[in-house]
Amino acid sequence: MKKPLQIAIDGPAASGKSTVGKKIAENLNYLFFDTGLMYRVATYAVLEQQCPLDDEGKLADIISLADIQLQNNSQTGETDVLLDGKAITDLLHLPQVDANVSLIAAIPAVRKLLTAQQRKIALQGKIVIAGRDIGTVVLPEAPLKIFLLASAEKRAERRYLENLRNGIPSDYDEILYNIKQRDQIDSNRNVAPLKPAEDAILIDTDSLTQNQVADKIMSLIDQ
Ligand code: DC
Repeated sequence: MKKPLQIAIDGPAASGKSTVGKKIAENLNYLFFDTGLMYRVATYAVLEQQCPLDDEGKLADIISLADIQLQNNSQTGETDVLLDGKAITDLLHLPQVDANVSLIAAIPAVRKLLTAQQRKIALQGKIVIAGRDIGTVVLPEAPLKIFLLASAEKRAERRYLENLRNGIPSDYDEILYNIKQRDQIDSNRNVAPLKPAEDAILIDTDSLTQNQVADKIMSLIDQ
């Protein structure tokens, strides 16, 4: 089979989309694009300007005026994020961003703006693109759509261990609570809720390592 030009990877918070997506992109020499980062930059911009979260019009104005740039850093393998020319990558996982990003991402005007930008980037070439609504809304025509499943407990455990490895103090129960809250908001919003596309391939990752998940997807691509 010809390699799919676009590979959509959706799934809930901390299901491994970025780690797995990056591995696949590296194997195929494709671009990796984590659309969650866009919602995080938008949230950061809104919080920085102290905009009330219920003022949808003002939120959309702030986000539409924001110059958001994502640059793949070939040295670190990470995506560097710039907001109005300022590097803010390290600020995108701050607790206040984590606590508000699902609320901002549920606002229809915000989604409209960011979905259009994501689609434009996705159509530029070979890409592995990760998010919540890639297979259903951003790129429903993607030839390969993956949806990663994992229990909230397993995802919290992975995030907790990752934090420990990175020397970030963290609390398992707090992570679990936060993940469940985000699942609830992401799955129940009116616009583009988190759900698998009808033709997505579901992969239950609870008993798999991230390398095994990546291998599984690579074998689907090679089939
Ligand atoms: O993948 P992440 O945890 O960095 O995503 C942050 C938030 O952005 C998440 O709570 C849901 C939202 N999101 C979304 O609604 N649609 C996407 N395509 C990507 C992320």
